[in-house]
Amino acid sequence: MSVTVLVGSQWGDEGKGKVVDILSENYEIVARYQGGANAGHTIEIGDKKFILHLIPSGILRENVICVIGNGVVIDPKALLEEIEFLEGHGFNCEGRLFISHNAHLIMPYHKLIDSLNESGEKKIGTTGRGIGPCYIDKFARKGIRIVDLLNREILESKIRANLEEKNNLLKKVYQHEELNVDEIIEEYIEFDKKIDKYIKDVPQYLNEAIQDGKSILFEGAQGALLDADFGTYPFVTSSSPTSGGACTGTGVPPTKITSVFGIVKAYTTRVGNGPFPTELLDEDGENLRRWGAEFGATTGRPRRCGWFDAFLLKYSRLINGIERVAITKLDVLSNFDEIKVCIGYELNGKNLKSFPSDADRLSKVTPIYETLPGWKTDISHVRHYDDLPVETKDYLSFISQQCGFEISIISVGPKRSQTILL
Ligand code: GDP
Ligand code: IMO
Ligand code: MG
Repeated sequence: MSVTVLVGSQWGDEGKGKVVDILSENYEIVARYQGGANAGHTIEIGDKKFILHLIPSGILRENVICVIGNGVVIDPKALLEEIEFLEGHGFNCEGRLFISHNAHLIMPYHKLIDSLNESGEKKIGTTGRGIGPCYIDKFARKGIRIVDLLNREILESKIRANLEEKNNLLKKVYQHEELNVDEIIEEYIEFDKKIDKYIKDVPQYLNEAIQDGKSILFEGAQGALLDADFGTYPFVTSSSPTSGGACTGTGVPPTKITSVFGIVKAYTTRVGNGPFPTELLDEDGENLRRWGAEFGATTGRPRRCGWFDAFLLKYSRLINGIERVAITKLDVLSNFDEIKVCIGYELNGKNLKSFPSDADRLSKVTPIYETLPGWKTDISHVRHYDDLPVETKDYLSFISQQCGFEISIISVGPKRSQTILL
């Protein structure tokens, strides 16, 4: 029986969707524990490509039950669109998808306020999906939850109370026109009719499943460096993508987690603003973006690209408790003559002992690099570790040694089949 948390180890988009799809063959339940439709998890099976935002990537395996925990913020419109998309491709969600009573709902004003906040000068570069404003309301104890959909009176009174405040804010602070409360109430009553059948007591369900010996894979969204506590604050998301979030985001206690699995891209990317020590603003960075097709799965924005940062990964391993990892997108490095790996940071003439996650200090560090020879061979068809070029093996053992984790999956292309299991 295994209860595994799968986490993004860098700034998101490490290839979590692909690896969840691979691993979920051996799990009975896949559960999301934080974030919302800001995530974009890509899975390629044969010539079909799926991008999932809210529904766990395990939905593409017929025998897997998928769960959305209380830590996730749910945009009902995005959820219903995703269900429809999946059903259109022959993946049935009814009876296989369950949503926690306690998950918070993204409301139209969350998305509007998110985009209005981003129109100013101090931009985070959010996905515009209403994530931050929804979590603000959750912790301000004003949020509207899935459970509220079940009682019309409560739903209506909560929406009215929120709208009174939000309309005031929209008018006075943002000089924006007010939203129509009756339209929103009507829209959410319609959502309720379609969503009711998916609602479940998730903590009870998951804990009973564990007791019955079932295996659970927690699918993290975003990545450790976007964590609101441990990430490059304030350039972070508003949830807890790190492994601890799996407990608070589902109701499964820490004593039941059996392992933490990290997803690690063979280089580094970031979307949105914030410090990025190994970022490449030259031809190498352009090549990583081009060869890795590094464009956001949710917003289509070009991703910022840079060399692998082992110093960052050591920090990520520490705060997540990562033991084993999947290295993804290794094929993208195949054309480089030389590949650099950051092994430490220098700040004010001194080598840092620990990772400075605060944005100001991190923006001032100079990366210390080790240069390794490239392999200059296409590896996307390789399926056995022994068949990899010696330089590729050396690159893998160098990063695994530097970061202190064991590699158990190597991904050499976006497709399910382009995977080496160790
Ligand atoms: P996630 O958010 O962590 O699930 O990652 P995304 O789906 O946002 O981004 C990863 C992108 O890389 C997707 O387009 C995947 O199809 C693709 N991908 C995943 N693994 C590999 C790989 O090993 N090689 C290549 N070339 N592409 C990959
Ligand atoms: P997956 O799960 C990469 C980034 C945004 C922005 C910051 C805050 O696909 O890896 P938000 O909309 O969450 O308030 O934006 O976080 N961000 C992601 N970057 N992958 C993601 O998800 C992301 N989700 C949010 O670009 O910098
Ligand atoms: Mg993504």
